[in-house]
Amino acid sequence: MTLSAARTAPPCAFVLFGANGDLTQRLVFPALYNLAAQKLLPPAFAILAVTRGEFGDSAMREHLRGGLNNFCKQPLDRGIVDDLLARMSTVVADASDSASFVRLRDALAAADAAHGTQGNRIFYLAVPPRGFIPTVQALGKAGLTQEISGQFARVIVEKPFGADLASAMKLNADLRTILKEDQIFRIDHYLGKETVQNILMLRFANGLFEPIWKREHVDHVQITVAESVTIGRRGAFYDETGALRDMVPNHLFQLLSLVAMEPPARLDAQSVRSEKARALDAIRLMTPQEALANSVRAQYVAGKIGDLQIADYRGEANVSPTSATETFVAMRLAIDNWRWAGVPFYLRTGKALAQRYTEVAIKFREAPISMFRGIDLDGLRSNYLVLQIAPDEGITLQFNAKTPGPDLSIQRVGMRFRYSDYFDATPATGYETLLFDCMIGDSMLYQRDDGVEAGWRAVEPFLEAWKIAGEQGLALYRAGSAGPTEADALLARDGRRWRSLT
Ligand code: BG6
Repeated sequence: MTLSAARTAPPCAFVLFGANGDLTQRLVFPALYNLAAQKLLPPAFAILAVTRGEFGDSAMREHLRGGLNNFCKQPLDRGIVDDLLARMSTVVADASDSASFVRLRDALAAADAAHGTQGNRIFYLAVPPRGFIPTVQALGKAGLTQEISGQFARVIVEKPFGADLASAMKLNADLRTILKEDQIFRIDHYLGKETVQNILMLRFANGLFEPIWKREHVDHVQITVAESVTIGRRGAFYDETGALRDMVPNHLFQLLSLVAMEPPARLDAQSVRSEKARALDAIRLMTPQEALANSVRAQYVAGKIGDLQIADYRGEANVSPTSATETFVAMRLAIDNWRWAGVPFYLRTGKALAQRYTEVAIKFREAPISMFRGIDLDGLRSNYLVLQIAPDEGITLQFNAKTPGPDLSIQRVGMRFRYSDYFDATPATGYETLLFDCMIGDSMLYQRDDGVEAGWRAVEPFLEAWKIAGEQGLALYRAGSAGPTEADALLARDGRRWRSLT
């Protein structure tokens, strides 16, 4: 979790499956560059860029260099780029062809000899989910997943991790036939975000918050991940997936579990992940009817985001013209444990919304206001502690203060901590910490099997209910708006409302 020089990464070969893909170009390779620029890659390091079809060393170098040029926000250091690319070689390997994995094994032996990587390997599966198991099986068959004489073989599995509880459980079971749990690194890039990691520090490195972090003091919690982007070129994937599968059991539940978990005994992978899984396990499992009553799903229709005219979701490329896929979801969850009983957790996420905005807002209970009888209380607002994740990163505490002057009236004010005021921003894609942690074998910021399954278990009733309901109950919202009015009604029913998105 810390990119501290005290924890140096050991020699290793980084094997990148799907090296010609978008993810590699946009995030993984730029993250490796950023690690190299921060001197956090081991001196003995090699990259094997794996593609299923012939790509060639020089085409791959151009592809990766193009990624750095387009996706690294800072000026590049030519020497570091060249050094990184010089450590890269391409390998053609297809899981259906075991001979190709023997070639991969030979290429790894050659990398060990050329770069001193000492038989340590990280396999990064930047491939579509259907490729996860065949690739791991082929690695196993080629003897590449064995950890002999202190060497490591770790596999990073990208999302989506399953499409429902059954498929996630099967994926876990299949992975475990070849790998031990501590060899499996299930990535969720939200855990690579500094502000997400900071939820742990805020709660547990301060004496101030924990005593009030419970049902006696918290009225409710709102988690918002609003995106202004539409589905772009991902129509085929998205139309099968929808907002809930794409965002909730993974990213939103990372936020929820960090906020809801009990203090871990130690800041290590086992303790932290056990507490997170326990929090997810405590989410009340609803019947499909309850799930319908406690959720809103919606799809965007044409509208404007800024100056940009957006078409109906159903008109997007590779989306069915009769699609009932949700691009927005709001839900009300209950966590049945001593800390949170009776405190609703409201979650919402969607595409094509008015703006990109991610926050966790903790609303505290109202003060008893009878002593203020007769005073202008129009300005009186609730106390919110807001953890801002994007686009600005920071923490705000909102409270009430007396307005100046002889009249006694009250107005909401705020104390604001901005990350950028205290810390220099290091150029990052969000993957750096995660990749570094995998190299040093720290899986605290990766998902464990039980956490993934607890997440799917909690959303399963919603998936079931929506499958049966089909288009019925699917609300609509205008692109560029704050979402459907039905989402407002979900909170209004409880006498509450969403924090403003605009
Ligand atoms: C991805 C989803 O996992 O996360 C995307 O598949 C989504 O649909 C993205 O846009 C959001 O990530 P971030 O870091 O931009 O909030």
